[in-house]
Amino acid sequence: MVDLLLGQVIRFCDIPMTDQAFGMEHLTQGAVVVKDGRIVAVGPAEDVKRAWPQARLHDYGDKLISAGFIDAHVHFPQTAIIASWGKRLIDWLNAYTFPEEMRLADPLYAKTIAETYMDLALANGTTSMCSFCTVHPASVDAFFTAAQRRGLRAMGGKTCMDRNAPEGLRDSAQSAYDDSKALLHKWHGVDRLSYVITPRFSPTSTPDQLRALGDLWAEHPDCLMQTHLSEQTDEIAWVRSLFPQARDYLDTYEAFGLLGENGLYGHAIHLEPREIDRLSELNAGIAHCPTSNTFIGSGLFDMAGMVGRTRVGLATDTGGGSSFSMLRTMAAAYEIGQLRGTPLHPAFLWWLATQGSARSLKIDDRVGNIAVGLEADLIVVDLASTPAIRQRMSRADSFTEALFATIMMGDDRAIASVWVNGEKHH
Ligand code: GUN
Ligand code: ZN
Repeated sequence: MVDLLLGQVIRFCDIPMTDQAFGMEHLTQGAVVVKDGRIVAVGPAEDVKRAWPQARLHDYGDKLISAGFIDAHVHFPQTAIIASWGKRLIDWLNAYTFPEEMRLADPLYAKTIAETYMDLALANGTTSMCSFCTVHPASVDAFFTAAQRRGLRAMGGKTCMDRNAPEGLRDSAQSAYDDSKALLHKWHGVDRLSYVITPRFSPTSTPDQLRALGDLWAEHPDCLMQTHLSEQTDEIAWVRSLFPQARDYLDTYEAFGLLGENGLYGHAIHLEPREIDRLSELNAGIAHCPTSNTFIGSGLFDMAGMVGRTRVGLATDTGGGSSFSMLRTMAAAYEIGQLRGTPLHPAFLWWLATQGSARSLKIDDRVGNIAVGLEADLIVVDLASTPAIRQRMSRADSFTEALFATIMMGDDRAIASVWVNGEKHH
């Protein structure tokens, strides 16, 4: 069966600048054709309809067809503790996060949370994500099983910690290596799933554990490795006291084989010039987590300074982040840009949440844009989803001005339809 979706279309033919619509292509009356899970045609509606007369039509009127959103850094196990009040990073981990992650020792609870998380992600138009799981291997099974059931392209891994975490959330250097390796062999490359080697951050891993995971990564260099980097100043001071020989925070990863092009570093806010140069030299990935950075009080990421130098993606960081919505996450990225004096263009924000994230995860040859040959993960966005947005949009003089109203004020009500791997999701 061939499906033909009609509506406005947004896609990217080049990497945009942070402050211009350059690189964005907008079709007012466009069409996207989907066959066997792939995008096989995109263009002006009349031309495409003529070329595909037998296709089943899905007329979305003036709604906007886009690539699905991609969340480059999320903690699905923290779904139930999102919006927990009043703490900064280390206290927030101890007070809310670790007790909740402990509950995922129960595989049934892990499954419930994974299912809830996936439903929320899809309702918000997120069709791919890269998630931390918990220390428990069954949490990884729960995550991948929930993604697989929905046909999603999903990435994730067992969070490894062998110090500075409560009993019950700690593994060891050896078991982190063994369990991660077994899970990698079980899930990596199965359907649309990829395993990601996942040391939580250097304060919760001994040098032995970091080295063991560095060794595992060297054995599987095609896998991504994800962790956290320079999120809060207290955390950085703690890292300095735990690793007195290290030149800086990034060096605590580099020294153990955990720095590379396939590395994805969450937050990366308070970086030293050497760290920026090194990340840039390697073209490493960075996940910008704006709602988390304001919610936990971490700081203001330097988008304009980093995006030309490394691969930057956009991420909710749920439940440190305060929303499952990548629209709300784009709005927070805009607000942080404002506080840094660098307003981010609506086209750039949309790119960041789709192709930018895909590039940070190295899956941009498969998803993250509307282009022939890519997998058909698509969302249909209602650009007039609430009375407040509708009245603002009616005053807009351009497409990007209308889009910006949904970026700043939109949520799951704006997501009218979701297509996963060429199938309409119900
Ligand atoms: N640093 C280490 N673990 C975490 C986590 O779970 N969330 C956030 N935001 N930062 C972290
Ligand atoms: Zn995180």
